[in-house]
Amino acid sequence: STSQSDTLRTPIVAVLGHVDHGKTSLLDKVRGSAVSEGEAGAITQHIGATAVPLDTVSQMAGSLVNPDDFDLPGLLFIDTPGHHSFSTLRSRGGALADIAILVVDVNDGFQPQTEEAIDILKRTGTPFIVAANKVDTTPGWNPQKGEPIQKSLEAQSSRAKSKLDESLYELIGQLSDRGFSSDFYWRVQNFQKNIGVVPVSAMTGEGIPDLLGVLMGLSQRYMKDEMAIDVAGPGYGTVLEVKEERGFGATLDVVLYDGTIRAGDTIVVGGANEPIVTEVRALLQPRPNAEIRTEKRFDKVEEVGAAAGVKIAAPDLEDAMAGAPVRVVGDRDVDEVIHEVEAE
Ligand code: GTP
Ligand code: MG
Repeated sequence: STSQSDTLRTPIVAVLGHVDHGKTSLLDKVRGSAVSEGEAGAITQHIGATAVPLDTVSQMAGSLVNPDDFDLPGLLFIDTPGHHSFSTLRSRGGALADIAILVVDVNDGFQPQTEEAIDILKRTGTPFIVAANKVDTTPGWNPQKGEPIQKSLEAQSSRAKSKLDESLYELIGQLSDRGFSSDFYWRVQNFQKNIGVVPVSAMTGEGIPDLLGVLMGLSQRYMKDEMAIDVAGPGYGTVLEVKEERGFGATLDVVLYDGTIRAGDTIVVGGANEPIVTEVRALLQPRPNAEIRTEKRFDKVEEVGAAAGVKIAAPDLEDAMAGAPVRVVGDRDVDEVIHEVEAE
């Protein structure tokens, strides 16, 4: 029998924020990796994508995410760079998002790329939550590894707690200055009217259960209709990167945000001069919880449904461009799809 979850698209969660505020580290904590440590100068320079299945989410979130309450297959996280020179990549990441996490270093507060990220989210109308990161750096903090934030707060001295409160209220004030009403997430009744602020530490994992719980709850409650798309329809995606792969030549790292792509499909890809029409030779999927940007091992698959990160091997991809659209032609006229790609 086909369960509901077979037809629901995985929500795309973009992670945005100022440089070094801890976006990659937060994702590392969720997927159990150390991508941030491998980056030159710990600076992210590309968009990343990681599919985190529902069972991983519920493992990380403990009692805050009961998998029986959800019929979404999981979450696709999009990592973005916070360094000022990558604003195109931030916009691209923001444009893909169904929902976003704005990561703010709780000590640093709002910084230029925090502002920029807010502008992107405003422009695209993307709902978001705020991860107030690095709570472990609060003077006198008593770390409670991996615990929900309430439990962690109970273990803090009143001095540490009021220090953190001070920073959190400052953040809430900064959001208010930009026209967003926000509060600690556990006080928010209507997430469409108020932004939830989740205190977290990517270092100790405190608050990560809460962050995942809020994301899943929001996705399930407010986006289920949007996720109930025709996942079997022709695939739509965006190129993250064009990469040389041994044995395959130029390949595309793609975020598939709608429909399905299959080996053998004719696709149209935006190119440097004109759209490229080619046929999918192989689809390579990163394993669950792997970052497509750094992953070395891929599973060869026959088809991939949205939302997912996937590497596409096909002839003639040398002139393909990062940021370009990818369209499966399906039973449409190829010229129609070429026009669609040209118009983007
Ligand atoms: P860009 O991608 O370059 O914008 O940076 P980023 O936001 O991905 O930050 P990243 O995760 O690379 O973290 C930057 C630095 O902050 C690293 O040295 C991390 O170890 C540190 N860091 C991240 N989160 C935390 C945290 O919760 N607590 C502490 N103490 N350090 C953290
Ligand atoms: Mg990063």
